[in-house]
Amino acid sequence: MRLVELANLKIQEVLKPGDSCIDATAGNGHDSLFLAKQVSPNGKVYAIDVQEIALANTAQKLAAHGYSNLLSTFHGSHSQIDKFLGSKEEVCLMAAMFNLGYLPGGNRQLVTSPDSTTTALAKTYKIIRPGGIISVLCYRGHQGGTEESNAVLEICQKKKWQIEKIPGNDRDHSPLLILITKARMD
Ligand SMILES: C[S@@+](CC[C@H](N)C(=O)[O-])C[C@H]1O[C@@H](n2cnc3c(N)ncnc32)[C@H](O)[C@@H]1O
Repeated sequence: MRLVELANLKIQEVLKPGDSCIDATAGNGHDSLFLAKQVSPNGKVYAIDVQEIALANTAQKLAAHGYSNLLSTFHGSHSQIDKFLGSKEEVCLMAAMFNLGYLPGGNRQLVTSPDSTTTALAKTYKIIRPGGIISVLCYRGHQGGTEESNAVLEICQKKKWQIEKIPGNDRDHSPLLILITKARMD
């Protein structure tokens, strides 16, 4: 099974119709579409990306499947997630997806980075509800990818988050899926 499918399965166990969730790296909108299907008919999908084209692709994809009413897009870095979404009291988030790296077929300079990714994860963990899940799919084949996945693992360890770590295969540079579960008492 591909890691993205595994991430979807784990999120499906948690996310229910009516819930709110975040696609922290909207890209071409595949993850937003998956999330919209889970929270339909009355949930919310917040999609963030540094590229307007990614948000346009995502909006178009959800519109084509009839989910436009569930989507809110935010242009900028996911490290500003708190500014986009407001405080924990206002949003009831159950899941967040971080599919790291660059937009396939797009500008490879516009790639996620250790600093903004870890800042975004810390802020997301704060606003996600107990029992919620954050999936982080790290690609380690491009320049900086391994450093970024190490930074994600470091913050998980430092914050004592409960994680599951699944490599795509046994090669050093294979993708790595990190699933962070927010304990019910956090
Ligand atoms: C691998 S793609 C995401 C794939 C996407 N989830 C999908 O379903 O098609 C990574 C995306 O992260 C975006 N990105 C890079 N840095 C970012 C940041 N600091 N905040 C939010 N998005 C960022 C890129 O523009 C790119 O669209």
